[in-house]
Amino acid sequence: MIQVIDHPIIRERLTHIRSVDSDTAAFRHALHDIARLMCFEVTRNIETTPTEVVTPLKKTEGHKLARPVILVPILRAGVGLMNGFAEILTEASVGYIGLYRDEETHQPHSYYCKLPAHIADSEVILIDPMLATGGSAADAADELKKAGARRIRFACLIAAPEGVAAFEERHPDIPVFTASLDEKLNEDAYIVPGLGDAGDRYFGT
Ligand code: PRP
Ligand code: URA
Repeated sequence: MIQVIDHPIIRERLTHIRSVDSDTAAFRHALHDIARLMCFEVTRNIETTPTEVVTPLKKTEGHKLARPVILVPILRAGVGLMNGFAEILTEASVGYIGLYRDEETHQPHSYYCKLPAHIADSEVILIDPMLATGGSAADAADELKKAGARRIRFACLIAAPEGVAAFEERHPDIPVFTASLDEKLNEDAYIVPGLGDAGDRYFGT
């Protein structure tokens, strides 16, 4: 259920993102570009229904999305990846799930959840740059399902094999899209080689 989105421009931008020499502006810029490119693949199999459109010359068949789309970034760093998706999916609603990872235990703690009411009938794209232990994404997916979501996909920038396995175990029904499947987690549960702390790098904290 994991799809690695491999594209030369994504690979090139990811190099800027990983670099310890990239400042906040360079990090944000590259993340934004990757999000727009990833959006194309993450939404590739979203259902459309036929609709009629009148061109200046004649009536013809067009397409519209079968269901509304809801973007749900996990705070904080998910916001950085979400913006590029929102630029393509301009009609999408946005919900937020706030989680932080305890530095000692690496367990996620929930502090915020605000989701659109029409979640049960929507295509939901859960967004977070990092899938490390998988705890944050899996807990966020629990919240989405509790709220009634039935069609969920998860988009991240970098995934660790440990996080992919943990997420798949808890949510085998949710496809995972990533720009890179990295080597492993280190003893602090950071992704190696990774990019460091995504929230700190995106928000300059
Ligand atoms: C980071 C990241 C994910 C989480 C991934 O957030 O953005 O949400 O860690 O780790 P996991 O897969 O081991 O759960 P963090 O907890 O650092 O919060 P922040 O975005 O507010 O900095
Ligand atoms: N959260 C991050 O921001 N980076 C990691 O490598 C792991 C969790």
